[in-house]
Amino acid sequence: MVKKNTCVFISGKGSNLKNLILHSRDNNFPIRISLVISNNKKANGISYAKKYRIPYAFINTKNPNYENKILLNLKKHKIKFICLAGYMKIISNYLIKNYQNKIINIHPSLLPKFKGLNTFSRMLKNKEIKAGCTVHFVNEKLDGGSTILRKSFFINNNDDEIILKKKTQKLEYKALPEAIIKIFRYT
Ligand code: GAR
Repeated sequence: MVKKNTCVFISGKGSNLKNLILHSRDNNFPIRISLVISNNKKANGISYAKKYRIPYAFINTKNPNYENKILLNLKKHKIKFICLAGYMKIISNYLIKNYQNKIINIHPSLLPKFKGLNTFSRMLKNKEIKAGCTVHFVNEKLDGGSTILRKSFFINNNDDEIILKKKTQKLEYKALPEAIIKIFRYT
């Protein structure tokens, strides 16, 4: 199997990035992490790129030309697939057009519920019964593309935002690799 050159976009901790790097070391996993892009110079996730010797680039989104810089980096590393893992910036239509149906995102809620930020506090306020995560294709609408898979759990009475985040992330570490395998299962 030919692994797809993949770029992971991050903004912070990078625990999903680390998880993907570890999965991608398996010969049967369909992607190779060939590039990490961060919009935050101080993102902890960059340390994983360094540790596992993966090229990385910092993109300053205040620079009006930053979209082109992203695209140049993607072309340079022959990127065929993009995974947003905690990237807290909206992807422009320009990038989406260049990578139609080739960008996925992981979101910490059961979409279409709780798009956007502060998902856990809104879930608790709303007295939701279930929480979870969704892996979906990225389109021009915020957290709006078609769902690849969801994983859920029941919220306990004593679950606060911190516990919900922990439980959700534990599911994310399964959901993202599973979604990637699902996408490339017939290739
Ligand atoms: C993840 O929980 C992901 O679902 C969330 O950011 C976290 C990043 O964690 N993404 C969003 O909220 C996107 N709207 P990580 O940096 O440890 O992978």
